[in-house]
Amino acid sequence: MTASENLHPVTVPESIVDSARRASRIAVLTGAGMSAESGIATFRDAQTGLWKDFDPKDLASPEGWTADSDLVWGWYRWRAELVRRSEPNAGHVALAQWQHRAHVDIATQNVDDLHERAGATVLSHVHGSLFEPYCSDCGTRAALDAGAADAPAEEDQRVPPPECPLCGGLIRPGAVWFGESLPEAAWDAAEDAVRRADLVLVVGTSGVVYPFAGLPAIARSAGATVVEINPVETEVSDMADHRWRTTAAVGLPALVARL
Ligand code: OAD
Repeated sequence: MTASENLHPVTVPESIVDSARRASRIAVLTGAGMSAESGIATFRDAQTGLWKDFDPKDLASPEGWTADSDLVWGWYRWRAELVRRSEPNAGHVALAQWQHRAHVDIATQNVDDLHERAGATVLSHVHGSLFEPYCSDCGTRAALDAGAADAPAEEDQRVPPPECPLCGGLIRPGAVWFGESLPEAAWDAAEDAVRRADLVLVVGTSGVVYPFAGLPAIARSAGATVVEINPVETEVSDMADHRWRTTAAVGLPALVARL
């Protein structure tokens, strides 16, 4: 903890502390804002968001892949290297610590591995993983050679995707794209976790991409208390019982310290 944090301790709303202390099952739903303080850009923040310079259809859809697979592969390779060079932030670490003390299921939209590298167990990566590419023809998993020479320095650098050693098809990124179904087991696990939770924390998501964005409403109708952690108002805010305008790396450690 730095000297300035000591002088200005973060005040956690008591209603949130009470809910967290009472809960026997907690589900944490995370989005890109969870990793923002690790230096990974979100998608929709106006100045810094990844979708500021790119149309998501070009980089995150089957049509974009068909049209320019070198652009798509280069962009995901660039992001994988960015993540590899980044570190989990204090919010990731706090969630891992919470898991040692309580039943905390983490379901994330993030395709990074920062929860895991902080020591947490992730129940569900509903949008896939940057580190699990697979063959676009036969579906066989491929390894992503971290730090490999094909990793581009710029986000718009084209890199030809490798070929599948089994069938010769193109290896595609392991992220779920617009227009594709979510991995069924990952979705089922996330939905089950929010249905069974007493407390659902929604951290760092704009709440606009479905079906993940529907999970807070499912949680509410199943009787959970829903808490949003996000510096700004979002699509989730209206249905949250408590809205805490803070960031993941500030709010989560302060909350876990009170439990
Ligand atoms: P967005 O970029 O849509 O939203 C990020 C949210 O994080 C915003 O509401 C920010 O206010 C908030 N935020 C920013 N910094 C934060 C911080 N330090 N702490 C907490 N919150 C912060 O990202 P997602 O909601 O995750 O899908 O986007 C959902 C999906 O859209 C992604 O999984 C991706 C994208 O297209 C696919 O790739 C399939």
